[in-house]
Amino acid sequence: MLDRRTFLKTAAVASVAAPAIVRGQNLNSKLQLVGIGCEGKGWSDINAMASHDQTAFVGFCDVDLSRTEKVRKLNPDAPVKQDFRELLEDLGDKVDAATVSTPDHMHAFIGLDVMRRGKHIYCQKPLTHNVWEARQMAKQAKKSDVITRLGNQIHSHEFYRTAVHAIQGGSIGKVNRVHSWCAATGHGKSFHISRPKAPEAKPETLAWNLWLGVAPERPYGGWNVYHPWGWRDWQDFGNGALGDFGCHILDPVFTALKIDKAPMDFKADHTGMNDEVWPAQTTVDYTFPGTEFTAGEQLQITWYDGGRLPATRGSHLPAGEGLPRSGSLFIGEKGSLVLPHVGAPKVYPDAKIEKVEGKDHYHGWVDGCLSAEQPSDGFAYGGPLTEAVLLGNIAARYRGTKLTWDPEAMKITNHEDANQWLRRDYRDGWNIEAVS
Ligand SMILES: NC(=O)c1ccc[n+]([C@@H]2O[C@H](COP(=O)([O-])OP(=O)(O)OC[C@H]3O[C@@H](n4cnc5c(N)ncnc54)[C@H](O)[C@@H]3O)[C@@H](O)[C@H]2O)c1
Repeated sequence: MLDRRTFLKTAAVASVAAPAIVRGQNLNSKLQLVGIGCEGKGWSDINAMASHDQTAFVGFCDVDLSRTEKVRKLNPDAPVKQDFRELLEDLGDKVDAATVSTPDHMHAFIGLDVMRRGKHIYCQKPLTHNVWEARQMAKQAKKSDVITRLGNQIHSHEFYRTAVHAIQGGSIGKVNRVHSWCAATGHGKSFHISRPKAPEAKPETLAWNLWLGVAPERPYGGWNVYHPWGWRDWQDFGNGALGDFGCHILDPVFTALKIDKAPMDFKADHTGMNDEVWPAQTTVDYTFPGTEFTAGEQLQITWYDGGRLPATRGSHLPAGEGLPRSGSLFIGEKGSLVLPHVGAPKVYPDAKIEKVEGKDHYHGWVDGCLSAEQPSDGFAYGGPLTEAVLLGNIAARYRGTKLTWDPEAMKITNHEDANQWLRRDYRDGWNIEAVS
């Protein structure tokens, strides 16, 4: 008796030769999905996956039942649960794969459980809430041999793919320096810098204990304070503007320059922070080992958020040339490239670059699950990308101090105290086991 994963793999191989026969004969050759987190980005992920003609959503999970209207319409027969563990337990072998689009603090708890059950997973960015969790997710993906993809959909967009192709094709020569920036600001979403003094009562529809999950106990604050959306600003749940946009905007930098090693050191400056929320504006200087696409043996990448833009001095941009609100500036030996987030890349001095077609990021993962082919930006890529992003926020806690990193030992080598932020203590009953 074939289990569903083996069946899908076999069906996929057969479908290369005779797709119509396999699909026509057995509806089960569809990828059977559950959606975890059903509104906000969750709905956009579910909707995008559902538009693939070989998917079927067989169950949904959201801790807030008021946010399940759209998924109930998508498949009125599918069960809807507030606890993802109950859903996966009940559906068992009917589930092949999951999309995980909850707030960041729960990605690892949910994602590791999904993978331990042998299900493929599409998980929103950043992959996790802390560095240790990102390491566990990458390890578990390998161990479970499942198809994974990080939810940074612009990775597959024409604009990002075109920029990667232009840089790797030598349009600006070897790259000397990168600046990446984002207009978003920490504590921009919740407009709070400390906990509300008089928290509102939680809505009946919301299972607050499940929403909190691994994070320390605190009362529901009021609509948008933490749930939905506002959680990004709060250190217990999100990672501010860097966490929100770092994996998007640094993704084409990592891909174009084939950065596959961890940063050697990182140092941050910012406009001030407390123990609750992330700074309104953060700048992080990273040093990475050079690659075949960089001019030197080391590469400096600087991140700016909260509306601060880099100086274009030293680049090939004419004086007074404006920069997009968010994006990256690659300064090469013979030219510079500006890649807006999300916009067409432009080379200076003006030069034509070959356009590369975009792909459907969501369908690419579904196709990967059906054909047992891992996309290049699975957790083996998304884990280290997330680690680099999150290390920038550890540096923010030690403003002005350059922290040095030993990725093998997973240790900040020059500052014992800073290592406490690589992982967190979990709430009773919500422990995350290390992956052996
Ligand atoms: N790729 C992108 O462009 C993009 C854009 C926005 C958000 N995101 C990412 O998507 C994720 C969700 O962000 P959002 O803005 O939609 O947040 P949100 O708070 O607006 O929505 C999260 C949804 O998940 C539900 N939820 C919360 N905890 C849950 C749990 N433990 N189990 C099941 N459901 C749960 C909430 O009720 C809500 O419906 C985050 O990781 C975020 O970084 C990505």
